[in-house]
Parts: sequence; C-alpha cells; structure tokens
Amino acid sequence: MLEKVKIGVFVMGGIAAYKVPELVRQLIKKGAQVQVAMTQSAQEFVTPLTLQVLTKRPVLTHTFDEREPSQVQHVAMADWCDLALVVPATANGLAKMAHGLADDVVTTTLLAVTAPILVVPAMNVHMYENPATQRNLAQLRADGLTIMEPDTGFLAEGYEGKGRLPELHRIVAQVERLYARTHLPQSLAGKQVIVSAGGTRERIDPVRYISNDSSGKMGYAMAQAADWLGATVTLVSTTHSLLPPEGVQVQEVASAQELAQAMTSHYDQMDYVVMAAAVSDYRVKYPHDQKIKKVAGQTDWQLDLVANPDILAQLGQTKRQQVLIGFAAETQNLLEHARAKLSKKGADWLIANDVSNPAIGFNSDKNQVYVLGAQGQEVLLPQQSKTSLALAAWQVILAEGEETL
Ligand code: C5P
Repeated sequence: MLEKVKIGVFVMGGIAAYKVPELVRQLIKKGAQVQVAMTQSAQEFVTPLTLQVLTKRPVLTHTFDEREPSQVQHVAMADWCDLALVVPATANGLAKMAHGLADDVVTTTLLAVTAPILVVPAMNVHMYENPATQRNLAQLRADGLTIMEPDTGFLAEGYEGKGRLPELHRIVAQVERLYARTHLPQSLAGKQVIVSAGGTRERIDPVRYISNDSSGKMGYAMAQAADWLGATVTLVSTTHSLLPPEGVQVQEVASAQELAQAMTSHYDQMDYVVMAAAVSDYRVKYPHDQKIKKVAGQTDWQLDLVANPDILAQLGQTKRQQVLIGFAAETQNLLEHARAKLSKKGADWLIANDVSNPAIGFNSDKNQVYVLGAQGQEVLLPQQSKTSLALAAWQVILAEGEETL
C-alpha cells in the first residue's frame, strides 16, 4: 500500500523521538519515500544526521536554512507529501497545531500541508490528560486530522500511565489505513462487512483439540481490504497469532458452533458476509471436562464425531440483502469443485484456491485465486500478496455489483 508513497515525518521533542529512526526504516521497507522535519527539541533526542542517512534526504531543521534558491523549503516539503505523520506529537506541538501557530520548521510546514495528517501523541500521562491537551486534540480532530490514541503502559518517568507511543508496527498500519482510506475508491463506505477467519478448534478435552492448517491470513486480508475500502468491519477470528487490522472490530471464537453463533447474531445488519474460516466439518461428540488420561495397555482409542452445521449453507438459505462470499480450498479439480460448492451453498461469490501448491494457499503470504460468481463470472487473480489479492477480489465483487444494479 505504501509503495512510492511520499510521507513527511514531523518529529517533535519528546523522549519517544528515539524510536523514530526505526519507524522511518519500517516505512521505507514498505516502499515509502520519507522526508523528515524536526523541531529544535527533537534534535536533543535524535540527530538529524541519523534520519538523513536513513531517508537519503536532507532533514529540515530550521525554517530559514534555505539551501535551494529555486524553492521555499517548508512549502516544497508540504506540497511534496502524500501523507504527513507527526510523531511523537508533544503537548506543546499539539497546542501550536490546534491554534495554527507556525514558529518553527515543523509547525510552519504542517500549516502548509494539504495531504491527510496522522498525529501520534506521546507524553507523560498527566500532560496527556490535562484538559488543555484534550481540548487541543478535540480541535485537531474537528479540523479533520486523524489522531492515534497513545498506549497505556510503562512510561519513561518510571510509572504506568496512558501516553506511551503505540507499537511501531501499529503506527505503520495506521499510516497504511489513512493512505488507503484517502486514496482508494471508498466503494464500501457506509457498508457493514463481517469476515470469519482461521481454522476452528473442536475440543476433545481441556488441553487437546481438532483443527486444521488454516492460518487465517486470507480472512484477515479480506477484512483489512474491506476496511480500506471504507466499510465498517467485524472480524470473527479463531486465531491469536495474527495482528488484528487497525480499525477492525475483532471477536474471538474457537469452535464451529461459536463461529456459527457469532455469524448469525450479526447477520441481519450485514451487507457483505465473507466466510473465509476453515470450519471443521465434524466436532467431538462428547468433549471431556477433564484431561483424558492414558490407559495402560490400551492400543486403540475411538473418538466419536458429530457433524457441525454448514454455516455458509445456512446463511445462504436465510439470505436477504446480504452478498455472501465463500471460500473453497481444493487439492484437485479446483474449478469444478468450487462451482459445485457455490451453487450448493447458495453463495453469491466463491473464492477458490488450490492448496496443493505450497507456494500459495495455507500459511503462505501469497496466493492465487479464482473469483467465481453465481452468474457464471470467472476471474483469475494471479499470484500476489494476500493483501493485494484481497483488494482485487473486492474490486471484482463490487464492480460486478455495479453492473447488475
Ligand atoms: O465445504 P467446504 O468446507 O469446502 O466449504 C468451504 C466454505 O464453506 C468456506 O467458505 C467455509 O467457511 C464454509 N463452511 C462453513 N461451514 C462448514 C464448512 C465450511 O461455513 N461447516
């Protein structure tokens, strides 16, 4: 999402500034171009040279340090930005921004920025909770800036409180989200989307379960892409090992029955329903309350299973306004099996992938899929990251929807 995106990073003088070089590296690794401006106080914590070396660009440190006669540097930087990131935003810096003051190179440049601005405050808890700071944040929100909530945790002062800089990967994810939401067509704006993801876990006893190889990555990518396209998204997830997409409401479940309950309870309000979860076809008939003990000498052991509800098929039967999207993971005769599943389950769309190829599918970060529509549509989306594949799948689904309106 950030490939070739021009990001202006505005650093203010808080202790969290020591994390900015690493943040800048993470943005650059995502393909972004970064230009930094720093206040005098920020330079007490991290040197402009560090950031110049990382970004391969001169760092703006003084408003009147004009080295290029053909331009005014702060206006040139403001115009260059596709997105501006203020990190860390100090109480003093927020106050200046809220009042439109421009008395250093950071606030002066920010005043000239017309691109979307993400503000990441980090400061002492009492400074953060001070009514003046809260008033300034409310003003900036009202002015259309996006503010990230600080984390609660161990502060530089040696005690716990709200004011920590959020984890860097979360800041990067917020940058991606803001860029997506301001640059992609918001074709899912105002829509409610629910996505299920991951392999269900069917309990045998308190320490054992039956599950499958689904990583949940494709479902997470579908949820994130829907959010990027403007939807309000609920993600019903069985996995703890993936980072929840920023802005998406996550509901944790384990078994197929819990998943069915979650999906049906939200179903009426939904516009799009994506069943990307790998649901166990069977569950244990008599799960044990206590850990099952090994019996000496016993070589065989039977486990009774009973069929789970087919959630997608049930949703298909009660479908009204919802567009229903299923997934099919197949190891042979992909298209034939997928098309049969599409009609059997009463889905509108089926996203089919061949899991016999280890380069794509389960656990891989890449995938290649067919998007099949109930009206006979068949689109091959070639191998690419699950993130871009999810966006492409939504585009196929939404474009077809427009044509049939
Ligand atoms: O039948 P199969 O499991 O291959 O179908 C895959 C699709 O059906 C997926 O969208 C999956 O989430 C859904 N499914 C379901 N309930 C089941 C089994 C699969 O909703 N019991």
